[in-house]
This record gives sequence, C-alpha cells and structure tokens, in this order.
Amino acid sequence: NLPVPQIPKCLQIRTVTKRLLSYAEAKRFSTYRHAGHACVWAPQEGSSSFGELRAAVMMHLRFDGTFGFPGGLVKSGEDIVDGLNREMNEEIGWSLSEHPITWADYYSTQVEHSKHLILHFFIKEITLNQFITLERKCPTVPEYGNEVFGTVRVPLYTMQNMYSGLPAFLNNRFVGTAKQQLLLAMYHVKIMTEAEINDVIYRSNNLKL
Ligand code: GTP
Ligand code: MN
Ligand code: MN
Ligand code: MN
Ligand code: MN
Ligand code: MN
Repeated sequence: NLPVPQIPKCLQIRTVTKRLLSYAEAKRFSTYRHAGHACVWAPQEGSSSFGELRAAVMMHLRFDGTFGFPGGLVKSGEDIVDGLNREMNEEIGWSLSEHPITWADYYSTQVEHSKHLILHFFIKEITLNQFITLERKCPTVPEYGNEVFGTVRVPLYTMQNMYSGLPAFLNNRFVGTAKQQLLLAMYHVKIMTEAEINDVIYRSNNLKL
C-alpha cells in the first residue's frame, strides 16, 4: 500500500541519486535506525521581481552548513510518523494538532548504508498562510541556533541569464539525498515538469557566475 514512486529519467542519470526502495524492502535492514524528513510546501500564485513563484517550499540551513528538510531520527520504540512530527515540532514549530503528517503524505524510502539509516521522505501540502505562520515561528523554536540555523524558501524560477534562481540554489551543499528529494517532490506535486527539471539540472551543472 506504499508504492515506490516513478522517478523521471533525468533524475535517474543526471545527478547523484539513490535508489528508492519500498518500505517493506527497507525493513530488511533490521539493525538500521529510521529517520523521517518532510518537504513542506504551499501553492503560491504570481511572480516576484525575479520570476514565477509557483510554490513556497521550505528547506532549512542545518548546523553542519548544509541545506536539508526538517525532520530527524526516530527514537527506538517510537512510531515513524510520530517521530517525524516530534522532530518537525522541535525544528520548525510544526503544529501536530493543526496539520499532522500522516502516512498519506509518505513519498519515498532510501537507505544510507554508510550511516546505517533508513530515510523516509514525506511531502506535505499546507496553505500559504500556514506556511507563513511556520516561517515566523522559526526563530522561536527550541532547535533554532542549535540544529537549525534558519528556514529558507527555495527559489523555483530560472532567471533570464539561465542560471540565477533554482540552478544556482542547487549548487549549494545538501545533506544526503536532499537535493534529489527536492526535485522529486517538485515533480510529484506537478510544480515542475520532467523537462523543466532536466533543464534546471543542466543549467545548474553548467553554472557560470
Ligand atoms: P539529532 O537530534 O541531533 O540526532 O538530529 P536529528 O534527529 O534532527 O537528525 P537529522 O535531521 O540530522 O537526520 C539524521 C540523518 O539523516 C542525518 O545525519 C543525515 O544523514 C540524514 N538527513 C538529514 N536531513 C536530511 C534530508 O533532508 N534528506 C536526506 N536524504 N537525509 C537527511
Ligand atoms: Mn534590493
Ligand atoms: Mn532534530
Ligand atoms: Mn533534523
Ligand atoms: Mn533527534
Ligand atoms: Mn536533536
């Protein structure tokens, strides 16, 4: 009942990608710890001065200097979605009562053998007002200044020079497979087409600033 999502071809061959496993397949690594992370996003109409907005997508700057998604390690005995909601509360002030993450928001599972981790990725749509409320909570959360150094919105447009915007953002450092997860999420919720993702990866890899 948790199918492995279809990956667009450009994400299979063009970036450092990790295979998506079924939840059942990942369970075979019974000594590995589980972690859950989520892409929280809200549809957004209109344009900024720099391009078409499409959506507000939340990532954050981590303590280690990389960009990633909110979430974290599930404690032993803790349910995966409970652990994810708890970590999201610690890291971004996520409200469990207003919009809890559930298995309906599950997207994919990947295994990080070097760290003995099974990583579950969720995609959660909220409203733009809920998104803005979360952003404002960011500096008040317990993990701000510790695990989390600030929430960012991902610029989803490509500017006329063909590299500023998303291609440039993708040249930041990302934790684990977070860059792949970002593009997969945008593909899954139909914010970007396969052709657009292909272009963005090409422009990102051929960046001249
Ligand atoms: P502690 O409470 O300090 O243990 O941190 P945490 O529970 O918040 O764990 P963290 O979010 O750092 O996630 C655990 C591990 O998952 C990390 O060491 C990374 O290897 C990996 N990880 C973290 N964020 C992401 C992400 O956005 N995407 C992917 N693919 N992996 C991630
Ligand atoms: Mn200015
Ligand atoms: Mn954490
Ligand atoms: Mn975390
Ligand atoms: Mn933790
Ligand atoms: Mn912690």
